[in-house]
Amino acid sequence: AQLAHVTLTNYSKSEESRELIHRALLENEFMKHLEQGQIQTIVDCMHPTRLARGCCVIQEGDDGSLVYVLEEGKVEVTKGEQKLCTIDPGKVFGELAILYNCTRTATVTALTDIKLWAIDRQGFQTIMMRTGLIKHSQY
Ligand code: CMP
Repeated sequence: AQLAHVTLTNYSKSEESRELIHRALLENEFMKHLEQGQIQTIVDCMHPTRLARGCCVIQEGDDGSLVYVLEEGKVEVTKGEQKLCTIDPGKVFGELAILYNCTRTATVTALTDIKLWAIDRQGFQTIMMRTGLIKHSQY
């Protein structure tokens, strides 16, 4: 219920970035089922971040708090010793721990300098819940 008091912050971004984030959300298995308004609000609220090559973006087993969209560069996904895949620009990652309220399922490492967009758990959950509340109040 506290989520109703969270203030969502918009971060300005270029039209190219908005489109990249929007397409990434629509390609993601879970995100694509959200309502149009929720997707637009996530696009508005994502903030920019950059990391250098070699940085660990996500550590398997940690508590997760951010969902990311990759805008520039390349990251690698590993689980234990095993390489799972690489991720290119225009993809969502880090969504599983937030959606399923579990710890990070894999490690994500920057293979190049990277530019990311991120939204935190609280912002994400607020967007999920507010739309629910608005819907509910229409009945
Ligand atoms: P999360 O578990 O929050 O943090 C690690 C992320 O790696 C995970 O969300 C997914 O976005 C991504 N990930 C995990 N397993 C795979 C996989 N098999 N293939 C591609 N991406 C994965």
